[in-house]
Amino acid sequence: MKMFLAGSTGAVGTLFLPLAEAAGHVVVPHVRPQSAAKTLLSAHPYACVADLAHTHVIAAAMGGVETVVVLVGTTRARFSAGDSYASSDVGAVLDLVRAGAAAAVRRVVLLSSLGAGGPGAYLAAKAEAEQVVQQSGLAWVIARPGAFSQEAESPTGLHGRRQFSGAATAVFGTLESLGLRRFAHRYGPMPLSDLAAGLLRAAEGGHDGCILHGDKLRARAE
Ligand SMILES: NC(=O)c1ccc[n+]([C@@H]2O[C@H](COP(=O)([O-])OP(=O)(O)OC[C@H]3O[C@@H](n4cnc5c(N)ncnc54)[C@H](OP(=O)(O)O)[C@@H]3O)[C@@H](O)[C@H]2O)c1
Repeated sequence: MKMFLAGSTGAVGTLFLPLAEAAGHVVVPHVRPQSAAKTLLSAHPYACVADLAHTHVIAAAMGGVETVVVLVGTTRARFSAGDSYASSDVGAVLDLVRAGAAAAVRRVVLLSSLGAGGPGAYLAAKAEAEQVVQQSGLAWVIARPGAFSQEAESPTGLHGRRQFSGAATAVFGTLESLGLRRFAHRYGPMPLSDLAAGLLRAAEGGHDGCILHGDKLRARAE
C-alpha cells in the first residue's frame, strides 16, 4: 500500500516510517521546507518537501496513495518559532484533507489525543481536527492515546525524546499488575513503538470510522 506521512520528523513519525516500510508499504514522508535542511528525510527517495498549503503539490505527491497518516502537531514551547495549535494541529489537518480529497485517497488516520474536546486550547484544537477528518468525506480513523514514553532518541526526529515521569509509570505498572490492564493501557503512558504499530494497523485498513484509545491501539500492536 502507498501511504503519505505527515509529521515524519516527529517522535511518532520517525518510528512509524521504518515500521511501515519494513511491512512492505511505500511511504511518502512529508517534510516542511523550513525543516528540510535539518533532517536526513529530505533525501528520502519519495520525500515530499513542500508547504502543506500548496494543495496541488501535495495532491500530486498523494497520487496513488491509499492512506494519509497525520502525526502533526505542536507544543506551546514552539509558538515562538511561529507554530500554533491553529496552524499545526488544525490548519495542517485541513490542508491535508483538502489535498487528500483532490487526490482521491481512501482514508485518513489522525493522531489525536486522550481527552480531545476537554478543557484548554490544546484539547479544543484536537477536537476541531477530529471534526475536520470526520467531515472530510474520506474514510477516517482517529487515535486517542495518552502520554507517550520513548525507549531511545530517534536519529531522524527533530523534537527530542518523549518521556513520562517515572513515578506515574510505576503507578500504571502497578495497576496493570493488579489486573487493571485495560485501564492502564487506556490512560497510562504508551511506548512509542506500540503506538507506531497500532497506527500502522489502522492505516492498513479494517477500522474505518473507529476512534481508538490507548488500550485498542496497544491491542492492535500486540
Ligand atoms: N507527546 C505526547 O505525549 C502526546 C500524547 C497524545 C497525543 N499527542 C499528539 O501526537 C502528535 C504527534 O506527536 P509527536 O510527539 O510525534 O510530535 P512532535 O515530535 O512534536 O512532531 C510534530 C510533527 O508535526 C510537524 N508539524 C508541526 N506543524 C506542522 C505544520 N504546520 N505543517 C506540517 N507539519 C507540521 C512537525 O514538523 P517539523 O519537524 O517541521 O516541526 C513534526 O514532524 C501531536 O499532534 C501530539 O499533539 C502527543
